Amino acid sequence: MKRLVVVGTGYVGLVSGAMFASLGNRVTCVDKDPSIVEALRAGRSTIHEPGLDEILQSTIADGTLSFTTETAEAVAEADATFIAVGTPSLETGAYDFQYVEAAAHEIGRALRRPKRHIVVLKSTVTPDIYTRVQTILAGETEGSGAQVEVVSNPEFLAEGTAIRDFSQPHRIIVGAVSAAARQFMEGLYRPFTKREPGVLQLTDPKSAIVTKLAANSFLACRVGLINELARYCDAVSADIEHVRAGLASDPRIGHLFLYPGPGYGGSCFGKDLRALRESAREHGADLSLVPAIEESNLRHKLYMPRRIERQLEPLAGRTLAVWGIAFKARTDDIRESPAVDAIEYLLERGARIRAHDPEAGRRAAQHFGSRITLCGNKYDAVDGAAALVIMTEWDTYKSPDYHELHERLSGRIIFDARNILDVLEVRQAGLTYVGMGRGCAT
Ligand SMILES: NC(=O)c1ccc[n+]([C@@H]2O[C@H](COP(=O)([O-])OP(=O)(O)OC[C@H]3O[C@@H](n4cnc5c(N)ncnc54)[C@H](O)[C@@H]3O)[C@@H](O)[C@H]2O)c1
Repeated sequence: MKRLVVVGTGYVGLVSGAMFASLGNRVTCVDKDPSIVEALRAGRSTIHEPGLDEILQSTIADGTLSFTTETAEAVAEADATFIAVGTPSLETGAYDFQYVEAAAHEIGRALRRPKRHIVVLKSTVTPDIYTRVQTILAGETEGSGAQVEVVSNPEFLAEGTAIRDFSQPHRIIVGAVSAAARQFMEGLYRPFTKREPGVLQLTDPKSAIVTKLAANSFLACRVGLINELARYCDAVSADIEHVRAGLASDPRIGHLFLYPGPGYGGSCFGKDLRALRESAREHGADLSLVPAIEESNLRHKLYMPRRIERQLEPLAGRTLAVWGIAFKARTDDIRESPAVDAIEYLLERGARIRAHDPEAGRRAAQHFGSRITLCGNKYDAVDGAAALVIMTEWDTYKSPDYHELHERLSGRIIFDARNILDVLEVRQAGLTYVGMGRGCAT
């Protein structure tokens, strides 16, 4: 049993804390937002993540997981503290480290006594912040005899599959200097690595940090490339779905992250690529591909709304139904979601939006307010609309009742930004299909 503190109870902190607690460790999760702590104490998850509620309730009942707004109290009793606060983008594209730095100061102030403690950087950062956190902790604990080591342990979980990703990881990257810190981290993760000990990879802290940035750049690059190829397929009347199948059967390429869509979104790819670009610039590393991926994605996010505009103009006064606002299925996260950009684009041109999302409604209401109509039922969103636009690949959208769509849609056209519908079925229902890169199929 280890005594752990996790600072920040967002998608990463809450899942990590709950999963460590489920193994019997004593975990205190800290969040500075009292409303989050209050909800979590009552066993109510503040994020949508399949399977998380059950783990929260059982670990709270067992007494292994607790919540507080007070970092100092929790840290003073613990063996290790994880920093899992957000690292959003500054306007320049660099990370805004104010939350990591504030957390490091708070942790340091709680460690002013002769004791060993490990501070684990789980937030996604650039290498400079590792040094910065070390400096902050050294300054806060100076002369106290505290022995504090900073370890990098970037998180690779994906929203929607976070519990599985955490409990059956492909890799756990630990960047630590001392043998004691490495041993501590190996012990902590052993229950998850027992079957495949090779998944835990030990390295130095900065290489661990760069591994995370590198992984997200690779994945974003694949998504960006398949999306550009989809646009090319539209231009030359080819079908990207056939092209994708051909590509995916090459074992050097494979099928994962090779699905054309409305552009990548979420809280990670965009900001991590921007931060990598800025960090490279500051350090004089001449990167051209990374900024290009980002630019390509920004352009691609407007590809579907522009097609809708071309097909239906003028958009002013027209009602459009949008299915899906989350940046991907199985999450309620709408940060940098292509659906949000598409809706903003259509609203700017005077369209009226009736939208549905199985989980992201609350966050969408916070973002759009009364500018769009959120419907609890997906078919209600379609009532009288000039078109249906599918932006998120939720299962519930994959086999719709075409008869009902035909009855309720006034415009009889479906824009499927995720290619989740069967073109023939749509056509047989008397509807027009516009997919992503399905030039000859449409
Ligand atoms: N969301 C993902 O899928 C994912 C995956 C891998 C890595 N990451 C990285 O993990 C980090 C956290 O991401 P997230 O999506 O969980 O963030 P989030 O924004 O959902 O949550 C961060 C939480 O930290 C809290 N917080 C901020 N400062 C605090 C402080 N000083 N003390 C206590 N609480 C504080 C906030 O109130 C918030 O609840 C980021 O660096 C992100 O890039 C995220």
